[in-house]
Amino acid sequence: MRAFLGIGLPAGTREAIVSAIAQARGLQAPVAWTAPENLHITLNFLGEILPERVALIERTMRVVANGIGPFFLTAEGGGAFPGTRNPRIFWVGFLEPLELVRQLQQNMGNALSGAGVPREDRPFHPHITVGRTRGALPPAWGERFVQALSGKRFGVVPVSSFTLYESRLGPGGAVHTPLCDFRLEESDDRETREEKEP
Ligand code: 2AM
Repeated sequence: MRAFLGIGLPAGTREAIVSAIAQARGLQAPVAWTAPENLHITLNFLGEILPERVALIERTMRVVANGIGPFFLTAEGGGAFPGTRNPRIFWVGFLEPLELVRQLQQNMGNALSGAGVPREDRPFHPHITVGRTRGALPPAWGERFVQALSGKRFGVVPVSSFTLYESRLGPGGAVHTPLCDFRLEESDDRETREEKEP
């Protein structure tokens, strides 16, 4: 099965994004826009995994979730990968500070490697993919998309958990099914243990 770890978004943020990109959508450009219910932040893409590995991944992710407490992310503005002149992916971004989401993603990657699950090797840029190009776009389209989103706020995202999703690719687009939620809770177990050591 195809799987990834990510953060779901509140309805208000998804609605704000959908309304901000409505005009671009209406231009009938060759872009596959992400279905509103699929808007998310990817933390680690696992790719194809054997279903029997899910239990191991769940155990490993529970430990990761006990290492970082809940935090907030502010969704604002947008961009294009690899760049606005040759856009492949259109995205909505987040304002600094991003230390906690970076830390979470890194802890996740380390824990996955430790458990023998290949980790994502691309640099982490926290974002919400809103569209993928499916053909050539008129020049300046990327730049205009980014300008249209510039300075727009899509809300504050409370991150109190992350999710393991199964992602099925189909003719109507991807369907992401949440398999397991991992609640963020900074545990003081380690400190307690250290205190008890002679
Ligand atoms: P992204 O679009 O946020 O970058 C589910 O398919 C999610 O996994 C996608 O939203 C995508 O995240 C990420 N993903 C898909 N294919 C990937 C790949 N080959 N490498 C890394 N991440 C990928």
